[in-house]
Amino acid sequence: MKYPLVDYPFSKNDINSGRKILSMGKFITMNKVTREFEKRFAKYLGVKYALMVNSGSSANLLALFALINPKAKKRVKSQDECIIPTICWSTSLWPIIQAGLKPVFVDVDLKTFNINLDDLKRKITKKTKAILTVHVLGNSTNMDELKKIVKKRNLNLIEDTCESLGSKYGSKFLGGFGRFGTFSFYVSHQISAGEGGMIVCNDYNDYKILYSLRSHGWDRGLNNGKKNSFNFINSGFNLRPMDITAAIGLNQFKRLNQMIKIRSNNRKLIIDSIKNSNDWNNQIDFLDSNKKVKPSWFGMPILINKRYISKKSKFLNYLNKNGIETRPIISGNFINQPASKLYKLNKRRETFKNADQIEKRGFFIGLHPKKINKNLVKFLTKKLLMVDKI
Ligand SMILES: Cc1ncc(COP(=O)(O)O)c(C=O)c1O
Repeated sequence: MKYPLVDYPFSKNDINSGRKILSMGKFITMNKVTREFEKRFAKYLGVKYALMVNSGSSANLLALFALINPKAKKRVKSQDECIIPTICWSTSLWPIIQAGLKPVFVDVDLKTFNINLDDLKRKITKKTKAILTVHVLGNSTNMDELKKIVKKRNLNLIEDTCESLGSKYGSKFLGGFGRFGTFSFYVSHQISAGEGGMIVCNDYNDYKILYSLRSHGWDRGLNNGKKNSFNFINSGFNLRPMDITAAIGLNQFKRLNQMIKIRSNNRKLIIDSIKNSNDWNNQIDFLDSNKKVKPSWFGMPILINKRYISKKSKFLNYLNKNGIETRPIISGNFINQPASKLYKLNKRRETFKNADQIEKRGFFIGLHPKKINKNLVKFLTKKLLMVDKI
């Protein structure tokens, strides 16, 4: 029996919708279907604008470069500080540095894996101008409190929602609270187009900046959709998506709610089976969602009991050898990564106790959008409760 991180993610319809675009020849890159996906995405999320890009990393890059753009309202300047949790993805962090801002690291909560708001408050200085929060694996921090801090200090909030499409905090979708929200459609995320991402915002000026930065800095298609305008009005990248990936993404998006439900049910079946087992003995535990969060799960995060920390790598080897694919909780504590040392990111030599614990005790397994059967639940229960036996 095998339990890979990702099950084959595409339906026949996904493939046919992509194939249809491919057969159209010159229109395979960003075109009509991209625009339709953007419109539907914005409507679903309850935001004014959505712009599709070629990855979640590109969406983060755009968010940061929009903040420092000369045309931006409340422009953020070189060497201003941007707060980020140490449990983050590499391309949540690097755009901050690439945009010339200074990252300030904050610890996370052990219960939610998300940014710790007490540590965040301690780290705010006069130079703090932005917070990039990462909604980890479908979960979030206390958004009511975070919103209050952002408002009181007049800060810019970016929500890296690459792992949490479809999760709600209260009645609102994550990604819709900040100045920018970013999403990824890479394989294994809530929807998958192979590659692709989305950035959302509510301000037309911000949207125009994102729009021209995405594609060479031109205004083509802006200004009431004039197609033949070739004014280069801003700096730029080429972060355009393909219409092929937009078609696959849009098709998957239509069944997002159904996939959220199936993942949630599968998760419950696995957790109930483990917690009802005589062998459980608190060997492992699971991530709790914040009370106000209605999660759209990305994978199934697991924490090994403290008493077995020294056995973790042996245990993960055992799982992988037995067909259960595992991944770290994002990148662990990013400060411990070689790239952080290369760029001397922890000059203050701070320690991040909870992020370290999550790195030492945490990992995640997949959560597939197909109903799991009893035999597979049994298999997972048996293998996941072998920590004390190996
Ligand atoms: C939190 C987070 N941000 C950004 C990204 C980057 O997304 P992409 O792989 O689409 O570039 C990921 C990727 O998994 C992620 O987990």
